[in-house]
Amino acid sequence: MNRYSRIAGTGSYLPEKILTNKDLEKTIDTTDEWIRTRTGIERRHIAAPEESSSSLAEHAARRALKAAGATPADVDFIVVGTTTPDLVFPNTGTLLQQRLDIHGCPAFSLETACSGFVYALSVADKYVRLGEAQCALVVGVECLSRFVDWTDRATAVLFGDGAGAVVLTPADEPGVIGTHLHSDGKYQDLLYFPYGVSKGFDTLRNNSMDGLKMHGNEVFKVAVRTLSRLVDETLAKNGVERGEIDWLIPHQANLRIIQSAAEKLGLPMEKVVVTVQDHGNTSAASIPLALDTAVRDGRIHRGQLLLLETFGGGFTWGSALVRY
Ligand code: UT7
Repeated sequence: MNRYSRIAGTGSYLPEKILTNKDLEKTIDTTDEWIRTRTGIERRHIAAPEESSSSLAEHAARRALKAAGATPADVDFIVVGTTTPDLVFPNTGTLLQQRLDIHGCPAFSLETACSGFVYALSVADKYVRLGEAQCALVVGVECLSRFVDWTDRATAVLFGDGAGAVVLTPADEPGVIGTHLHSDGKYQDLLYFPYGVSKGFDTLRNNSMDGLKMHGNEVFKVAVRTLSRLVDETLAKNGVERGEIDWLIPHQANLRIIQSAAEKLGLPMEKVVVTVQDHGNTSAASIPLALDTAVRDGRIHRGQLLLLETFGGGFTWGSALVRY
């Protein structure tokens, strides 16, 4: 009998503090109207000083486990997509593992920017399919507010903090039908954070860093083109017709990019889960946040066909076709 993975439960978490477009009007040269019409964003959540990616992830993970009818003791595999780890090491997966009081199973994080969750889902799916994991925790989490340049209107209005998680368990029928991952470093200068450990560390040490860099307009154009190709690839590789998709759950970066992907699929916007207005671009957290929102508010039902698609820094991009 074939073995697959299925999403047994979803969870998410947004920090309490909300920063609205109107709040931003007071500190930078922008308007609520510009932000809404260009991006669809209305507000974003900001992690409290004592919070971190692993603490946000813990909330989302506990909610996903509860929804799956599982406990931390059941978890035997943890993978976290994040580009804003608590520390360089231990990795955020291991820090989450400790928070959940689980000891010994593999736990790690991967950094593929906004594609972090889809990459993590793809990895966990393989382990569950191969029989090497029975209860995999897959998380996308970000504290982007920590490295946004709050004086740069071109980026400060876009990003927010949050976490989303799913629990993957084995199943006789798919579940995760297919995942499709891509990356191309030739676009590295269009969207990046300029400091790390082996490069730019002196700037960090001297406390003189600025923030994340993005050539928004160029990113926008490549994103629209690439996501269109990705949708074609995902449908073709899985032998699925456009009309069979029940829900599109896209990366929540910009409402206009989401609309163009929906158009490509011939899906009305009522069949697209849009949460960007409530939390802005939360990078790796955005897809599991949107998924959890639509599961909990009753829009997504068991048995429905979901298309998850993402695009982010690198560039990295990817999709997952999932029977929920
Ligand atoms: O998550 C990973 C992938 N990231 C993305 O997908 C983001 C992709 N890019 C975008 O979403 C859009 O490009 C942005 C929302 C970032 C920008 O929207 P745009 O329609 O591409 O605007 P633009 O950068 O071409 O700027 C248009 C104008 C400029 O003014 P001028 O030169 O026309 O006078 C900007 O200076 O808007 C100005 N502008 C702003 N005005 C008010 C840029 N940022 C702001 C702002 N408030 N916050």
